[in-house]
Amino acid sequence: MTISINQPQAVSNPVTRNAIFIVATIADGAEHLATVRTWCEDVEGLVRSVGTRQPASGLSCVCGFGSDAWDRLFGQPRPRQLHPFKAIGSGERVAVSTPGDILLHIRADEMDMCFELATQLIAKLGNAVTVLDEVHGFRYFDQRAIIGFVDGTENPTGGEAVDHTVIGDEDLAFAGGSYVLVQKYLHDMDAWNKLTVEQQEKVIGRTKMSNIELNDDVKPTNSHSSLTTVEEDGRELKIIRDNMPFGRPGMGEFGTYFIGYARTPSIIETMLENMFVGRPAGNYDRLLDFSRAVTGTLFFVPSATLLESLASSEQAETDSTDTNSAESMPA
Ligand code: HEM
Repeated sequence: MTISINQPQAVSNPVTRNAIFIVATIADGAEHLATVRTWCEDVEGLVRSVGTRQPASGLSCVCGFGSDAWDRLFGQPRPRQLHPFKAIGSGERVAVSTPGDILLHIRADEMDMCFELATQLIAKLGNAVTVLDEVHGFRYFDQRAIIGFVDGTENPTGGEAVDHTVIGDEDLAFAGGSYVLVQKYLHDMDAWNKLTVEQQEKVIGRTKMSNIELNDDVKPTNSHSSLTTVEEDGRELKIIRDNMPFGRPGMGEFGTYFIGYARTPSIIETMLENMFVGRPAGNYDRLLDFSRAVTGTLFFVPSATLLESLASSEQAETDSTDTNSAESMPA
């Protein structure tokens, strides 16, 4: 039986040993927008071409579009909750907002596979885009963040993962899609390493070696895991994270590339509000005393089905003031 449900992109694929994150802006001009639209149709084929060379590597790519880029490329209708990310926090603790029209999240167990796919995807985009940021992340021992704690434990899996990350009938035109927020963090490892293991465990809310959640009576309310636990009507609201460590030890750079997928951006924004402003205000995430966000951008991830059909969308930059073009996206 054929079920006509939009196929999501590889949002909830299993974690891999390597990843490349690319954030790019699209150049001005109708010809560049046209290049990007045509490219939408090529993504899946390129993943297949490169991935078939080494099937066991689990190569995948998720691509997302920023709010302004969506309007320039595809016009109306637009994903209901897509908006430019607004910075959260103030003073020393700010979840900054930085530009980005296209996100590529490329994953595979081998870096050569990620590298080859990134090369092919970027080559097709040519001078239609300018890459603002490119991070090559690696899996660190047993799924640890660079700060030494196992990262990703509380991610939803299976049907629960789909339920928390894939848009359904709340926005039918975009069913099968997701929202994704990325942030690049740099850590002050000297300061972090001056803490005892017990102090570090209170920052995260879990034990370091064995990765067990601390009991409520010892877990501080400003621990990372406390402040990122968000509930609505007694139900926990979850996101899928696939953070990757990155860095250049010789340059003193130690980082975490945060990537969070959700069915609505507001869940991630609430988590950030709790982390950067505090819950209640002032009771902020202690992890931020050792971590600074240097980028932050929100993207919409169309379903794989929609991504392919976007190629035939005719919205162009020059059309954007033309209200007659409002229904130009393919059905
Ligand atoms: C949990 C690391 C940023 C959301 C965790 C855990 C670690 C961790 C080690 C505990 C294990 C687990 O994954 O469940 C980091 C690092 C970050 C970072 C190193 C960068 C500085 C963020 C951001 C968000 C977030 C920006 C959301 C906006 C979560 C959530 C959990 C979690 C939802 C699970 C909480 C629970 O249910 O216990 N993180 N994280 N993290 N983190 Fe982060």
